[in-house]
Amino acid sequence: MKTIVFTGGSSLLAQSWTKYDLPDYNYILALNQRKLEDSKHKTIFLDYKNVAHIAEQLRLIKADVVVNCIGLTSVEDCEDKPALAIETNVEIASNIASACHQTGVKMVHISTDHLFDGTKAFSNEETQLSPLNVYGKTKGEGEKAILSNNPDSLIIRTNFFGWGPAYKASFSDKILKSLEGETTANLFNDVFYTPISVKTLSENIHQLIDKAAKGVFNVCSNERITKYQFGLLIAATFGYPAEIIQPTSITEVANLTLRPKDMSLSNHKLCAFLGTSIPSIEEQIKALKLEGEARKERLVIPYGRQDVSEKDIQTVVDVLRSDYITQGPAIYKFERKVADYCGTNYAYACNSATSALHIACLALGVGKDDLVWTSPISFVASSNCALYCNAEVDFVDIDSSSYNMSPAALEQKLIQAKAKGRLPKVVIPVHLSGQSCEMDKIHALSKQYGFKIIEDASHAIGATYKGKPVGNCNYSDIAVFSFHPVKIITTCEGGMCLTNDATLSNLIGRYRSHGITRQATEMSKAPDGPWYYEQLNLGLNYRMNDVQAALGLSQMDRLDEFIEKRRTIAKRYDELLKDSIVETPQQHPDTNSSWHLYIIRLKKNKNINHRQLFEQFRAAGILVNIHYIPIYRQPYYQNLGFTNQGFEEAEKYYEEAISIPIFPGLTSEEQNKVVSLIEQPIGFQNLF
Ligand SMILES: Cc1ncc(COP(=O)(O)O)c(C=O)c1O
Repeated sequence: MKTIVFTGGSSLLAQSWTKYDLPDYNYILALNQRKLEDSKHKTIFLDYKNVAHIAEQLRLIKADVVVNCIGLTSVEDCEDKPALAIETNVEIASNIASACHQTGVKMVHISTDHLFDGTKAFSNEETQLSPLNVYGKTKGEGEKAILSNNPDSLIIRTNFFGWGPAYKASFSDKILKSLEGETTANLFNDVFYTPISVKTLSENIHQLIDKAAKGVFNVCSNERITKYQFGLLIAATFGYPAEIIQPTSITEVANLTLRPKDMSLSNHKLCAFLGTSIPSIEEQIKALKLEGEARKERLVIPYGRQDVSEKDIQTVVDVLRSDYITQGPAIYKFERKVADYCGTNYAYACNSATSALHIACLALGVGKDDLVWTSPISFVASSNCALYCNAEVDFVDIDSSSYNMSPAALEQKLIQAKAKGRLPKVVIPVHLSGQSCEMDKIHALSKQYGFKIIEDASHAIGATYKGKPVGNCNYSDIAVFSFHPVKIITTCEGGMCLTNDATLSNLIGRYRSHGITRQATEMSKAPDGPWYYEQLNLGLNYRMNDVQAALGLSQMDRLDEFIEKRRTIAKRYDELLKDSIVETPQQHPDTNSSWHLYIIRLKKNKNINHRQLFEQFRAAGILVNIHYIPIYRQPYYQNLGFTNQGFEEAEKYYEEAISIPIFPGLTSEEQNKVVSLIEQPIGFQNLF
């Protein structure tokens, strides 16, 4: 895994490049003045005037490569502010090169095609520089300074197009804006260049880095076209009328700083060095269109969504190409990784949390005539697991502030149960939304009343309780995680049982796989031979496969990043919704949630009721949800004799709770949309 730092992290290039997650690369955006609220990648601050500071930071984050995207790129600005152009295009570039030299970090510098007088087509890397303006001059001087400070640097001369961030439009963005708004775009028909898409550019630079290229490389397309022809290609590919693009001559624009009329570069050196060719500009624009469509697809905002990167995909593909796709090495590695993360002795990957809960109950000996208690505000799997074992189920009401099982209600219920001589064998507290239950109290009650504990931590991998990872089983016998796609990390479907108890560990492993053991010490007799195994219990096939485990392993590398993003989103909701019509989720001081869900509660309001608010969200394409319908309300449970009686808090919760979107890829804009809907609830009637 290579760490690439983009200096000028908010620049057009850094922003469009880092949208393409490539396997084996970890991107970090270095910022100076601009803040990025919803950056997908880690950001750091760099003082570009201070070489020692840059070097120290590069060492700290263990950078392998710096891609310098800093530049004062507006030709007119450079002409108006030459001192700033020198500082940005020469001095800062030179500082970064020195810092890279000191730290042994590879420096890649993004230069320009604006370095020549424009009298020659297809300039190559040997062509003498002959800049016409301050921009060209300072970029040329920047290149020289970098190579003299750090001769191993890689200088990229280019001119790119791509999808820019909201605050910075690229040339193709500007053309598309004109096309969409049907406002004429006047483009030069006498200025030539060799534009390349950011996707193609970045892929080629990655290859150059991998091959330890140094010195100057032109990274551009094969075709030399005018800006007008480029506009026509964009219009044709995106299906807009060509008439919106109009030809004009550079000579017709008054007061324009002198510019080269031919900026075309030759890519021969690049193609020869890499042994590749560059796709046609038309093909690159087609790819740009497809990317745009994929990005626009999210017209609806789900409440939760998986985040699967190219690296995750590559890891899965690697396993598919390997010898093992079921019970191979990835499973054990995944189990160890989760167990080590949580600080637990044993972990068993299963094909779902539902299966994991079932075998947890079996391992604890839950059977006919036993009693299992859980929270009514959970997914039905939390209680179904006991029914699979023919046990009886009951529910403990929730706490009014955490919405988790109330330790006070549990104690009351235990006192009554003891009096009736019908205590539970197992209690299953559920860490709703990723906030841990008050496990110290529940654990103390388990000692007093003699029940076992299975933590349903389906929502809570990455959360902590009293500063330690949830899943460490310090207060329970077994903990269970879910890796369903909406959860914190995913294996498509999947779950895991964790325990510190060696006996339980053996039983869980056995129940997961047909009740079979291959350990001689557990067998009823000496093995018949090396093939021998014994079935000791009636087990199941609840195993995860290696393909899923590979995805899980790769996702585990991103767990902390996911949690950080979820916490940032939750904090922002807390602030934005502080004085709104809804109550935001309260957090117990012992807990630090993984924020699988962000649950708001609508308090009594004369303008809108719970159902209307829910429907208003859905009508606006915000796919909110209710987590959960109290389990005792399900017809299956009503048929078992449950009523709504005795669950006052759960009933109140069900009348008020709504889960609003939270997932790592949720943008600030999307979050603002969710918040604005809560802030203006009276628009309900207007939506229809
Ligand atoms: C609290 C809880 N427990 C158990 C499960 C079951 O998880 P899985 O879908 O992995 O079987 C879920 C899934 O939504 C859940 O939310």
